[in-house]
Amino acid sequence: PDRNTAGQGAGDVFGYTLIAQDGMARRGRIVTAHGAIDTPAFMPVGTAGTVKGLTPEQVAATGAQILLGNTYHLMLRPGAERVDRLGGLHRFMNWPAPILTDSGGFQVMSLAALRKLDDDGVTFRSHLDGSKIRLTPERSIEIQHLLDATITMCFDECTPFPATYDQAASSMRLSMRWAGRSRTAFVERPGYALFGIVQGGVHADLRAESVARLAEIGFEGYAVGGLAVGEGFDLMCQTLDVTTPLLPRNRPRYLMGVGRPQDLVAAVRRGIDMFDCVMPTRSGRTGQAFTRRGTVNIRNARHADDPRPLDEACGCPACTQYSRAYLHHLHKSGEILGAVLLTQHNLWYYQDLMRDMRNAISTGGMDAFTQAFEAGLAEGDL
Ligand code: GUN
Ligand code: ZN
Repeated sequence: PDRNTAGQGAGDVFGYTLIAQDGMARRGRIVTAHGAIDTPAFMPVGTAGTVKGLTPEQVAATGAQILLGNTYHLMLRPGAERVDRLGGLHRFMNWPAPILTDSGGFQVMSLAALRKLDDDGVTFRSHLDGSKIRLTPERSIEIQHLLDATITMCFDECTPFPATYDQAASSMRLSMRWAGRSRTAFVERPGYALFGIVQGGVHADLRAESVARLAEIGFEGYAVGGLAVGEGFDLMCQTLDVTTPLLPRNRPRYLMGVGRPQDLVAAVRRGIDMFDCVMPTRSGRTGQAFTRRGTVNIRNARHADDPRPLDEACGCPACTQYSRAYLHHLHKSGEILGAVLLTQHNLWYYQDLMRDMRNAISTGGMDAFTQAFEAGLAEGDL
C-alpha cells in the first residue's frame, strides 16, 4: 500500500526502487529526506508557495506526495534569502513532504520581459516590478538550496518549438554545459537530489546525445524537457519513444509540464515516472473538470438543474457532498468555493489516475487499464 510518509525520512539516502514493470511502464518508489513518493506520480504545481485555492492539508488529502515550486516566482517574491531565514519552503508553506523546484529558465522565457540569453546565463526584467535580474546555473542552484528543495532541477533552456535542427542542437549543448555547472554548484546532502534535463527538440540523435552527456555527468534523476511546447501528441510520443529507452533504469524519469490525462497514460506507457502540470489546478479555477468520461465545463447551462455528482466514481468532497447544479451555481456566481471544489476534484482525479496506473502496472494490467480509460473518454459525459 502507498503509505503517506510526509515529513519523515530525515537522514535517508535519496533513492529510487523499481518495484514492477509492465511493458515499458514502471511502478517504483522514491525515498527522500522529506518522505517517500510512489511512482508514477503527479506533482501539483505550487508556483508561489501555494497550490492555488487549497490548504496543504487539502492537497495531501487528494493523495499528492510531492509538490512543484518555482525558483523564478519565489526569487522575485518573497525572495529566496527570506524563505531561508524563515526555515525553508516546507516550513514557510506548511508542506513537510517532498518539494521539487523548477530551475527558473523556463519561466524566465515565458514570463519575464527583456530577456537576454548568453553562454553564462540569462538577464531579464521582473514581471512584477521591472527590476533587472540575472540567473545563472550557479545562482539557480543556490536559490533552490535556500528554498530547501528536496529535488533541485538543473538550469536549462527549454528549446522553443518549432526550431531548426541547428537551433535545437546548440540550445541542447548550452543546456548540457549548464548541466555540468549545475552539478558542480549542487551541494550534496543525504536525501536530496539533483535532476538533469534532457533537451534536443524532436530530433532522436540530439536527444541521444543529450542523454549520453547527462549520464556521463551523473544525476539522481532525469527529466525530459522541451516537450508539450506545441509539437503535438504524436511528436511528443515519438520523442519519448527514442528517449526513455536510453535513460538509466535505476533512476526516476520526469516529463516536465505534462499534461492532460491521456498524455499521462501515454507517457507512463513509455516509461515516465513523474509529471507536473498546471492543468488540473488552472482548469479547476475556470470551471473545467476532468472526469472518467472526459472534460466537463461546469459553467455549461446543461448542469443548472442536474442533481447528480460531477463524477460518480470520484471520492472527493466536490463529488460526494455537492451536485453539478450547485457547482454550476458557484462558478456562474464567481464564488471562491467553486474554484476550490473544482481544483480539489481535479487533483483528486489526477491522483486517482496515477494510483490506478500504479496498481495496473503491479498486476500486469496496463493494457486493460488503457482500454478502459480510453473507453470512458470515448463514451463522453452523458
Ligand atoms: N517545464 C516544462 N518544460 C520545461 C523544460 O524544458 N525545462 C524546464 N526547466 N522546465 C520545464
Ligand atoms: Zn471528485
